[in-house]
Amino acid sequence: MRNISSIATMQNLALQWKREGRRIGFVPTMGYLHEGHISLVHRARKLVGKRGRVAVSIYVNPTQFGPKEDLSKYPRDLRRDLQLCRAAGVDTVFAPTDAGMYPHTETAAYSTWVIEEQLSREMEGRSRPTHFRGVTTVVAKLFNIVLPDVAVFGAKDWQQAAIIQRMVHDLNFPLTIDVAPTHRESDGLAMSSRNKNLVGNLRPQAIALWDAIQTAQQRVSTAKQPLSAATLRKQLQRLIEQRPDARVDYIEFFEPSTLRAVTKVSRGAHLALAVFVGTTRLIDNARL
Ligand code: PAJ
Repeated sequence: MRNISSIATMQNLALQWKREGRRIGFVPTMGYLHEGHISLVHRARKLVGKRGRVAVSIYVNPTQFGPKEDLSKYPRDLRRDLQLCRAAGVDTVFAPTDAGMYPHTETAAYSTWVIEEQLSREMEGRSRPTHFRGVTTVVAKLFNIVLPDVAVFGAKDWQQAAIIQRMVHDLNFPLTIDVAPTHRESDGLAMSSRNKNLVGNLRPQAIALWDAIQTAQQRVSTAKQPLSAATLRKQLQRLIEQRPDARVDYIEFFEPSTLRAVTKVSRGAHLALAVFVGTTRLIDNARL
C-alpha cells in the first residue's frame, strides 16, 4: 500500500491507473477510521474488482469546520488509520497537507469555492452555515486529484451524500456516487469518529438518537394515517431530552431524495436528527 501526501504524485498515479485501464474506487474520509469507514472500503473494492484500484483519502478538512467548532479537537491517528487501510486491502492512502490543499501566499489567498445552493440550506446547513461549502469544495478537489470512477459515501451523513450527488450531477463530474448503509455499535449508536469524545456517563446517553429513530419507525409502522411531523418531533424531543446531558439541535422529517420537508409523516419518509450529548454533537438518520 502506498501512502501519498503530494497532490501531483496522487494525480499522476491516478492517470497511470487510467492508462492501464483500471477502474478507480474512492473513499474520502477525515481519518480516525472505524468499521463504518472500512465497510465503505470493502464496498469500493467490490465495485472496481480485483484489477481495479481503491484509494482512501485521509484529510481533516479545515474549511468544513465553523469558527466555533473545535477543529483541533477532531481526533487523529494516522498510524492506526494506515494499518486499518492496509488490512482492508486499500491500494493507496492519500493524506495531503493543508498547505497543499489550500495554498496561499502573501499576495494570493485561496479563493475558489464550490457551493450547492439548495440542499445545503436545511438541517446541517442551518446549524453549520459554512459546513457544506467546505465539504463540496474539498470533495470536488479530491475528485480532481484521485479521478475516481466511483466514490463511496455513507448513508450516515445522508444530507452530505445527497449534496455530493447533486454536485456531481450539476457539474458533470464523470463518476458515480455509491451510498453505503450506516454501520452501528451493538446498542445502535451510529459509528463516528466523534464517539471517542463520549466519555463516562455520556456514552450510554448517546443511544438517545437510535432510541428516537426506533420509536419513530414504530409509530409510523403502526399508525393508521400519516402522523403530524410537529407532534412527532415534540414527542421525540421529549424522549431524547429525558437524558440529563442530551439536547436536541434539530429533528427533521423529509422526502429522502429531494430533502424537502414533510408536514405529514408516513412510511418511506426520512428522519434526520442532530443531538448534543454533553458538548459532542451527534447526527443520525433513517428511513421510516
Ligand atoms: P468522515 O466523517 O470521516 O466520513 C467519511 C465517510 O464515511 C462519509 O461518507 C461518511 O458518511 C462515512 N461514514 C461515517 N460513519 C459511518 C458509519 N457509521 N457507517 C457508514 N458510513 C459512515 O464525511 C466526511 O468524513 C467528510 O465530510 C468528507 C466527505 C471526507 C469531506 O471532508
